[in-house]
Amino acid sequence: MSASRLLISIIIMVSASGSSCMDGKQMTQIYSKMSAEGNISQPVLMDTNAMLCCPPIEFRNLIVIVWEIIIRGQPSCTKAYRKETNETKETNCTDERITWVSTPDQNLDLQIYPVAITHDGYYRCIMATTDGSFHRGYHLQVLVTPEVTLFQSRNRTAVCKAVAGKPAAQISWIPEGFATKHEYWGNGTVTVESMCHWGGHNASTVTCHVSHLTGNKSLYIKLNSGLRTSGSPALDLLIILYVKLSLFVVILVTTGFVFFQRINYVRKSL
Ligand SMILES: *[C@@H]1O[C@H](CO)[C@@H](O)[C@H](O)[C@H]1NC(C)=O
Ligand SMILES: *[C@@H]1O[C@H](CO)[C@@H](O)[C@H](O)[C@H]1NC(C)=O
Ligand SMILES: *[C@@H]1O[C@H](CO)[C@@H](O)[C@H](O)[C@H]1NC(C)=O
Ligand SMILES: *[C@@H]1O[C@H](CO)[C@@H](O)[C@H](O)[C@H]1NC(C)=O
Ligand SMILES: *[C@@H]1O[C@H](CO)[C@@H](O)[C@H](O)[C@H]1NC(C)=O
Ligand SMILES: *[C@@H]1O[C@H](CO)[C@@H](O)[C@H](O)[C@H]1NC(C)=O
Ligand SMILES: *[C@@H]1O[C@H](CO)[C@@H](O)[C@H](O)[C@H]1NC(C)=O
Repeated sequence: MSASRLLISIIIMVSASGSSCMDGKQMTQIYSKMSAEGNISQPVLMDTNAMLCCPPIEFRNLIVIVWEIIIRGQPSCTKAYRKETNETKETNCTDERITWVSTPDQNLDLQIYPVAITHDGYYRCIMATTDGSFHRGYHLQVLVTPEVTLFQSRNRTAVCKAVAGKPAAQISWIPEGFATKHEYWGNGTVTVESMCHWGGHNASTVTCHVSHLTGNKSLYIKLNSGLRTSGSPALDLLIILYVKLSLFVVILVTTGFVFFQRINYVRKSL
């Protein structure tokens, strides 16, 4: 097995897009029109800057706004702003990475920077205005890019690994035929390991495709193709025979030529 040469190449397709309020704002228009409570599922990459937006309102109509932050295993934290008195108040908030984007008289949005794996949770903006009340809830899902590797194992088997991703990555193979196992870590990440045995196929490449919310990756191993590995002894013999025969012919012709010259020489001198 050691004789086979490995060629591994990586194609990184998409790097996850940072989260912003942009797409949220378009949805907001719909929500605020309906004046209904809506929850938004918001995936964000770890270590990035996440912004969570309130529904857009006429600021002059604002009375009070409250951000409610519910993270598992922590007391719920609230950040409130009363416009009349230009006063902010916090209760049970200890995480310094979760802040107002600016002072609330400038911007009512919430910022998480940098996003950590423990920021999974529910974040809700509640506003009271002279036009009525508005809500917007976010289910924040923190994403962690898995570390992807592919290596050749013994016995015509390849192993593809997506280490410590969140959520779990999905691994598929060309050619098909795999066994996958999952390892769950305490911090919410998952390591996925998959094997592909190509014994039944005469494939020239084995490709492992890892799909994940943070972007897909394809890795492949080029297997040695053709004559050398499949080893056809009959053909090898033929090649050796051919080389030997050619050499023999060359020697024969040379000797013949020299011999002929000699005869010529002898004849001339006679
Ligand atoms: C939004 O999510 C919260 C927390 O999970 C839940 O209590 C509430 O019922 C949800 N609201 C809607 C409209 O789904
Ligand atoms: C603050 O935390 C305490 C203890 O977990 C809880 O009882 C209380 O409701 C929290 N206050 C707010 C405003 O969430
Ligand atoms: C509100 O308070 C902030 C500081 O908390 C201050 O910078 C701002 O000028 C105040 N705005 C008004 C309208 O008083
Ligand atoms: C190699 O694979 C073949 C067929 O799957 C199996 O019979 C054999 O036991 C394997 N050998 C080793 C060393 O894993
Ligand atoms: C999660 O835990 C695994 C296993 O201990 C570790 O390899 C990984 O780096 C951790 N990830 C984060 C984001 O803490
Ligand atoms: C190997 O691949 C070639 C070309 O794809 C195919 O014609 C042949 O039948 C395959 N042989 C086996 C044993 O799978
Ligand atoms: C990643 O792969 C999955 C499954 O193959 C596919 O559904 C998805 O569209 C791909 N995503 C990107 C960004 O290419």
